[in-house]
Amino acid sequence: MNNFTYYNPTQAVFGKGQLSELNKLVPAKANILITYGGGSVKRLGTLDRVKEELATSERKLFEFGGIEANPQFETAMKAVDIVRSEGIDFLLAVGGGSVMDATKFIALAGASDAHIGKERELMFHGFAPVPVERAIPMGTVVTLPATGSEMNGFSVISDGHEKLPIFSPLTFPVFSILDPELTYTLPERQVANGVVDTFVHVLEQYITYPVDARFQDRVAEGILQTLIEVGPETLANPEDYNARANLFWCATMALSGVVGSGVPQDWTTHMIGHEITALFGLDHARTLAIVQSPLWKIRKEKKQAKLAQYAERVWGIHEGSESEKADQAIAKTEAFFRSLGMKTTLSENDISKEDIPKVIHALEKHGMTQLSESGDFTLEHAQEVLELAV
Ligand code: NZQ
Ligand code: ZN
Repeated sequence: MNNFTYYNPTQAVFGKGQLSELNKLVPAKANILITYGGGSVKRLGTLDRVKEELATSERKLFEFGGIEANPQFETAMKAVDIVRSEGIDFLLAVGGGSVMDATKFIALAGASDAHIGKERELMFHGFAPVPVERAIPMGTVVTLPATGSEMNGFSVISDGHEKLPIFSPLTFPVFSILDPELTYTLPERQVANGVVDTFVHVLEQYITYPVDARFQDRVAEGILQTLIEVGPETLANPEDYNARANLFWCATMALSGVVGSGVPQDWTTHMIGHEITALFGLDHARTLAIVQSPLWKIRKEKKQAKLAQYAERVWGIHEGSESEKADQAIAKTEAFFRSLGMKTTLSENDISKEDIPKVIHALEKHGMTQLSESGDFTLEHAQEVLELAV
């Protein structure tokens, strides 16, 4: 097992009716900015419930709605203006990954006057911690289990057609309320997105090469097996509380640091996927469902031992050579994504072979030229993967 530091300060408040804990979790005296997306939380009553829970004379509540999927820098900056003009000292994100991520950016950019006029610079540090001294503390009420943003320090912000990851240990939410009942209203497409995003988060931390990290491997396998069960159950019975609850906790845990501590990680599928979203507007999870199996086919030799372990332990494949087991695991994964309604090729998503150079150019522009668990995945490999994905 590799050396690691594990840090996760977020308090997870999980289960039915846990919104009623909000009053205790949010500071009693504060100027609070509640952030939300395109309107689902308004339409479905979650925002009113949040405001009721927070209503006391000592708190001043402000609202900022309209955060779009794949949140834009310019949108987040409008909220930063409110933070500055109203002296906001606590942020509450009510929504999915996009709202949580935008709120993390607001927390970083709005925390100090030192960033005025230089907020864009916060976006160019990749996975290294953003060099800031403080962030405004934030909490979340999660309405979409998928990204794991509720229990990590990552965010992904778009600036026009650029989509960039940001990390800061200061943007772990102080608390996250995870009530599975708040997710009953999700459209099927978003449920499927959540299952696939969570699945691929685990795969990117698991399908690399063995380092004898038995606990992390078994947590990864446990999450994958649970998703294979509860994904279809949730789609078939949207109000099955236990299916929702299991899906939710898998999503939160998948990117909370537990699976990835002490093991090699390969975020190539995500990095290529982000460029596809930025260029063509495809949902985040749908890009992952396209890239994952072609990537494995191109990199099979490097990943074969873990692919075979995954085949055996997650899919119950015990026959054949290591190479044959790996092939079967790749086919099973793609079939699972398709069973959830994913279109797993570029052409099915109206992206053609002629579009590939745009993705390659974007990867190059963003310095994504040495990806993978060993830093040897070049633009030539990306080209091969995308050609296979057509
Ligand atoms: O905007 P509203 O009207 O609220 O509707 C949203 C949105 O249209 C809707 N929705 C959310 N909760 C709902 C609901 N509709 C009905 N009932 C509910 N309970 O769902 C739509 C999608 O929401 P969004 O937040 O965009 O989805 P998701 O949670 O999948 O987040 C995707 C974003 O997260 C980033 C992605 O790149 C993308 O920008 N990621 C963030 C990560 C992180 N912070 O760690 C890691 C991920 O790999 C990912 O990159
Ligand atoms: Zn993801």
